[in-house]
Amino acid sequence: MSNPRYVHLCLLDLLSLINIAVASQELKPANVCMLLSRLEGKVALITGGASGIGEETARFFVQHGALVVIVDVQDDLGNQVAASIGLDKVSYRHCDVREEKQVEEAVSFTVEKYGKLDILFSNAGTLGSLTGILEIDLDDFDNTIATNVRGVAATIKHAARAMVAKNTRGSIICTGSVASFVGGTGPNGYTTSKHAIVGLVRGACSELGAHGIRVNCVSPYGVATPLACRAYNFEPSQLEANSYSASNLKGIVLKARHVAETVLFLASDESAYISGQNLAVDGGFTVVTHSLSTFTD
Ligand SMILES: NC(=O)c1ccc[n+]([C@@H]2O[C@H](COP(=O)([O-])OP(=O)(O)OC[C@H]3O[C@@H](n4cnc5c(N)ncnc54)[C@H](O)[C@@H]3O)[C@@H](O)[C@H]2O)c1
Repeated sequence: MSNPRYVHLCLLDLLSLINIAVASQELKPANVCMLLSRLEGKVALITGGASGIGEETARFFVQHGALVVIVDVQDDLGNQVAASIGLDKVSYRHCDVREEKQVEEAVSFTVEKYGKLDILFSNAGTLGSLTGILEIDLDDFDNTIATNVRGVAATIKHAARAMVAKNTRGSIICTGSVASFVGGTGPNGYTTSKHAIVGLVRGACSELGAHGIRVNCVSPYGVATPLACRAYNFEPSQLEANSYSASNLKGIVLKARHVAETVLFLASDESAYISGQNLAVDGGFTVVTHSLSTFTD
């Protein structure tokens, strides 16, 4: 959760910048509210919204003026998250993304409640058990694919149908991972599933562009969420320390908020001509290797 003092300082910084920009006539007052409300009037559906990256994104979307439906399988947590954000802005609904009917119902619920669907953040995911290929449990593999690939396909299908039906120039964002670029950062089922999501995103992008719908992927490096901490039996601080030691970009620790900021960019009109991309939020982790570097001490 955000530190209130930090949020307060950031807001003060932002307001000072806005004042300077308005005073120097580089920013019209009418545009100021756009900085703070980048999703005003938009309706979003977020899967896996009860925890971690999905929860943080739901909070951030609402701060930017969106109405949000979060779905998950953790009902108590999902209801708590929705209540803590404000039930006038957020609704929680149970939906196991492995069940197409539940996905279809979640989309219908969103459209019935708020009149349309502008943004899908298809984010629910599972890591699967941490076994190597020599010991792989294929039932566990199937479950990972059912959640991370079939589930994402079902959400794209039904969200895009709702967007097409209402002529909505929507934005669909799916959560990949650094495991969508490289092997060895997670179990095999997970790596397979995250590579497959990139294929789904590209295929959907090619078909849905005709309807004005954009489809992108956001691919984070390690974030200290329950998914990652539970898998490695780490406290959040241990997970962050571990991720940091292997990271490329130093002096900053990746937080769920950094991912949410990227999702907000892809959801908003600021990315109006961006589609079919897999945007890594990884500080360069997947494009460099330091193992052969001749420039380090
Ligand atoms: N945390 C990381 O280091 C990291 C890095 C890269 C990508 N990701 C991806 O981010 C996404 C969000 O994960 P997180 O890290 O926030 O973890 P998290 O455990 O905090 O959140 C994942 C949520 O998905 C929900 N979920 C799982 N299976 C579901 C299903 N079948 N139907 C509906 N909801 C389901 C869980 O209940 C949970 O609330 C996942 O797709 C994950 O693969 C995470």
